[in-house]
Amino acid sequence: MIFNVHMKNIFLVGFMGSGKSSIGKRLSKKLNLNHLDTDRIIEKQNSMSIKEIFKNKDEKFFRHEEFKLITSLSKTKNQIISTGGGLFCNNDIIKYINENGISIYLKYSSEILYERLKSNNNEDRPILAHIKNEKLKYFIDDLLAERDKYYRKSTITVECNDLKKEEILRKINSLIITS
Ligand code: S3P
Repeated sequence: MIFNVHMKNIFLVGFMGSGKSSIGKRLSKKLNLNHLDTDRIIEKQNSMSIKEIFKNKDEKFFRHEEFKLITSLSKTKNQIISTGGGLFCNNDIIKYINENGISIYLKYSSEILYERLKSNNNEDRPILAHIKNEKLKYFIDDLLAERDKYYRKSTITVECNDLKKEEILRKINSLIITS
């Protein structure tokens, strides 16, 4: 199926480490659309890094910021929006996104996500910051299983395991038209 994104926002969703930000940037260049990153906007609006928001406020505050942001963005159009890994894990948010735009899930297996995340120190990812080595693998496994019921509600799922960045972009491009 081909999705017409004319007048719609495209939301990139998926687990931490799935490349939502970098794919978002490159896709926006390719399609000549504006690019937004929900984490960066929330940091700016609160004058704090994600790490500081989790430390000085709490996760609940952060999730509310994500909710407020998404409901305000749904009035905009024609933008590529890279989201934080937990943003789509809320049925109200899913409803907003899918009614007002197109959600694209960058899907990876937990094994590959572990490989991609273990080499990072994940200092700026408060959810992972204190989990190391083997424990990280089990943590990713569990959290991905828990989040799957949300991610699978995205408009489009791109199986990314065996694809290079350029192939992911081409695949997304072939699934959407912009005019
Ligand atoms: C989170 C993912 C992060 C960021 C925050 C929480 C999550 O974004 O929003 O640390 O709950 O999965 P990335 O997916 O860009 O790492």
